[in-house]
Amino acid sequence: MGARIPQLIFILIIHFWFSTAQNDDATTLRALKDAWDNTPPNWDDNSDPCSGWDGITCKNSRVTSITLASMGLTGSLTGDIGMLTELQILDLSYNKGLTGSLTPAIGNLKKLTNLILVSCGFSGPLPDTLGNLENLIFLSLNSNGFTGRIPPSIGNMQNLYWLDLADNRLTGSIPVSTGTTPGLDMLVHTKHFHFGRNMLSGPIPQRLFNSNMTLIHLLFENNQLTGTIPNTLGLVKSLEVVRLDRNLLTGNVPSNINRLTGVFEMFLSNNQLTGPVPNLTGLNVVNYLDLSNNTFDPSRVPSWFSSLQSLTTLKMSSTSLVGELPADLFSIPQLQNVDLSDNRLNGTLEIGSSHSNQLQQVNLQNNQIGDFAQRRQYSIELILVDNPICMETGVTDRFCSLPTNTSSSYLTPPNNCVPATCSSSGQVSSPNCQCAYPYTGNLFFRAPSFSDLGNSSVYESLHNAMINSFRRSQLPIDSVSLKNPTKNLDDYLVINLLVFPSGDDRFNRTGILGLGFSLSNQTFKPPAAFGPYFFIGENYDFLQGASGGGHKSSNIGVIVGAVVGGCVLVALLVLAGLYALRQRRRADKATHESSPFALWDKTGASGAVPQLKGAKAFSFEELNKYTNNFSESNNIGTGGYGTVYKASLPNGQLIAIKRAKQGSTQGGIEFKTEIELLSRVHHKNLVSLVGFCFDQGEQMLVYEYIVNGSLKDSLSGKYIVREVKETMDTSKELYNLHEVLDPTIGLTAQLKGLERFVDVALRCVEETGDQRPTMNAVVKEIERIMEVSGLNPNAESGSNSADYPSKGSEHPYTNDSLFAYSGDQFSTNLDPK
Ligand SMILES: *[C@@H]1O[C@H](CO)[C@@H](O)[C@H](O)[C@H]1NC(C)=O
Ligand SMILES: *[C@@H]1O[C@H](CO)[C@@H](O)[C@H](O)[C@H]1NC(C)=O
Ligand SMILES: *[C@@H]1O[C@H](CO)[C@@H](O)[C@H](O)[C@H]1NC(C)=O
Ligand SMILES: *[C@@H]1O[C@H](CO)[C@@H](O)[C@H](O)[C@H]1NC(C)=O
Ligand SMILES: *[C@@H]1O[C@H](CO)[C@@H](O)[C@H](O)[C@H]1NC(C)=O
Ligand SMILES: *[C@@H]1O[C@H](CO)[C@@H](O)[C@H](O)[C@H]1NC(C)=O
Ligand SMILES: *[C@@H]1O[C@H](CO)[C@@H](O)[C@H](O)[C@H]1NC(C)=O
Ligand SMILES: *[C@@H]1O[C@H](CO)[C@@H](O)[C@H](O)[C@H]1NC(C)=O
Repeated sequence: MGARIPQLIFILIIHFWFSTAQNDDATTLRALKDAWDNTPPNWDDNSDPCSGWDGITCKNSRVTSITLASMGLTGSLTGDIGMLTELQILDLSYNKGLTGSLTPAIGNLKKLTNLILVSCGFSGPLPDTLGNLENLIFLSLNSNGFTGRIPPSIGNMQNLYWLDLADNRLTGSIPVSTGTTPGLDMLVHTKHFHFGRNMLSGPIPQRLFNSNMTLIHLLFENNQLTGTIPNTLGLVKSLEVVRLDRNLLTGNVPSNINRLTGVFEMFLSNNQLTGPVPNLTGLNVVNYLDLSNNTFDPSRVPSWFSSLQSLTTLKMSSTSLVGELPADLFSIPQLQNVDLSDNRLNGTLEIGSSHSNQLQQVNLQNNQIGDFAQRRQYSIELILVDNPICMETGVTDRFCSLPTNTSSSYLTPPNNCVPATCSSSGQVSSPNCQCAYPYTGNLFFRAPSFSDLGNSSVYESLHNAMINSFRRSQLPIDSVSLKNPTKNLDDYLVINLLVFPSGDDRFNRTGILGLGFSLSNQTFKPPAAFGPYFFIGENYDFLQGASGGGHKSSNIGVIVGAVVGGCVLVALLVLAGLYALRQRRRADKATHESSPFALWDKTGASGAVPQLKGAKAFSFEELNKYTNNFSESNNIGTGGYGTVYKASLPNGQLIAIKRAKQGSTQGGIEFKTEIELLSRVHHKNLVSLVGFCFDQGEQMLVYEYIVNGSLKDSLSGKYIVREVKETMDTSKELYNLHEVLDPTIGLTAQLKGLERFVDVALRCVEETGDQRPTMNAVVKEIERIMEVSGLNPNAESGSNSADYPSKGSEHPYTNDSLFAYSGDQFSTNLDPK
């Protein structure tokens, strides 16, 4: 029994430390910073993040918002983020260099309302813990590399207003609730389902839609969805934009889709829909209708087309249309673009003289049209290539050749001035003719209501709306330029955006992250005609020398210092005492070299980059293989933190793998520190760490397996506390052997000292946090014990309790004087001689 105590206490105290300590946001931010490069230069290790770090907002010393759009950050988002439990807004958009998976610790941020990670480099699965964010209003994870399924738990976000998972590599079906699991049908307050450009498969569930929903934008375009369009879609009367195009949908279009009387844009194109052309008379406000490229039954041009008086755009290319085209179609007042190519329309084309004055293009390529009534006099762009009319010999009509590229080259014009010639590279002349470094990016409009890209008045309205919005948000802008509108392959309207700074020729970081947030959070709302949008910002060229990453090594020193300065002090004191006791009893001087502290030299603990002594980094695949896919038969214990598996290495060595369960993983820094601490411990009485795995969102520790089962006991979590206590209480031996204690521990003077010392240690490992003493109390108690033992704690430690905030202070670790407790004291005071 006695042999196990040191290892038990060591492990317990490490766990105690990691589970209770460090709810100090400043420390957490420094840890996050440590995992990033290119943080703002004013992210200075020695300053308070709450007063002056760009992008950080606090309330009562707790971080409430982190907005770092377009900062050029690289690195990963570590589990440390989970410590910032008062966080409400997290925006890391447009930092392509932020990679790795989205940590499950994100689910700890119960107060989060806005989680915005647009166009970063994140990959891997979306953690189930996202569903814990019950206050979330705005979730934008679009344009990353996320894989795997949409977590059903998202259905628990009852306050969600905006859900954007578009432009990732998500697979699987769309989750809906069953008796026991949540699903997206539960999101009755959500207005936006943006799932386009993924690899979602399976049918669109009938259950997804119900009459309680308030969805306005349903964007499923460009996935691999199969099956029929569920008729429940007709229940969601609030819908304004429906994009189901570019999927593998089959069957008839359900008739009650005609009940969606508020829809402005509907795309059902590029599917394999069959049956009659749907009757869409009910869509009487629809602007943009695209039914192209489906396998409908051959049909005449439906008469109800002409009743859709709000149409700007009608696309029915490749839909088996036959017969003559009715002329009244072209009199729809706002009609701009008609594409009925690849059909079997015949007879004489009649556009009439009373056609819409906005009519711009009529594409009838590849039909059977033999004549055109207005052949001599027409002003629109008409395409009749591959029709009988163009196959007669000697035809030279303009409509018989494909138009040359007329891609709009719109650029916001100068504001009554002559554009400046800018010499420095990167500078651009603003609409006010000043040379400056603009913030740039692309606006993507997913379902604009118009298709005439040559009408500058639409861009003027967008421009003015944007200037007004930025000014309302008090962003330091001089002017905005819109450039090169084009339609991309997904039928998104893409417009280049350039925003120019006021006052100076460059934005500072505050300006950029404000602009970025205004666009990532959809604070800027474009005119209704533009429909839903997203923005992808480019990196900004901040002033030279102003991009810095801080001093990594000293930062790690801060973390390591803080860690070793806290409860680990107690852990090591206890360990040292018990270790020394055992050493004496066994009179085994030879083990000194391998003692836990022999390796903890001054350089190691005072700020150098941590070294992993002999601990191997395993990949997830390796450990998966050794444990037969973490099979039940290898399971040798389960606790609150996760599960312990037995396995053997290829070389035959038996190992025990402690696998943290999802949600109880630590931040990367903490995990590293834990490994670092454990890897220093190589003693025959201690469980020795063989290696670790920090891969694919998993955190596992690999220990040497101890055959008699003590390892299982010592690793299997909180039952264990009672066991230690019983052992300690009954083991009179411990209390009686005080005379063999190492004198350097200073507790030999009185039995009293040791008893109290053990008591503190025991209280430190109580099961619940409120039963455990505060750090402050622990330090005071140790000082008292040392005094009782005739030692002067001040002289010994170079610090005293006065350095700690008074008892009851919420965050005992905020005080920098903690560093007084770093490595030096361990090696000089505690190293057993
Ligand atoms: C809609 O909400 C009402 C009231 O909350 C509820 O009784 C009803 O079952 C819901 N209907 C559907 C289809 O979920
Ligand atoms: C028509 O739609 C199918 C998918 O249903 C797609 O594979 C094909 O490329 C589309 N054809 C055209 C001309 O867009
Ligand atoms: C289309 O549906 C409307 C009612 O929604 C109906 O009045 C009309 O007759 C239908 N048209 C055709 C051609 O079926
Ligand atoms: C046009 O097509 C319709 C339907 O296929 C057919 O009935 C009609 O005879 C055709 N008209 C001409 C002039 O070819
Ligand atoms: C341009 O669009 C506006 C509406 O935004 C419209 O009133 C105007 O007629 C259009 N101009 C042309 C030439 O189509
Ligand atoms: C037309 O423009 C598109 C993109 O705007 C380009 O990819 C294509 O090559 C151009 N075609 C011609 C004939 O210039
Ligand atoms: C950043 O720019 C804004 C406006 O141009 C200014 O008010 C602010 O003081 C600047 N911040 C710093 C740190 O220079
Ligand atoms: C960000 O978006 C949320 C949700 O749309 C909105 O309530 C909030 O006002 C926005 N914040 C800012 C600062 O614009």
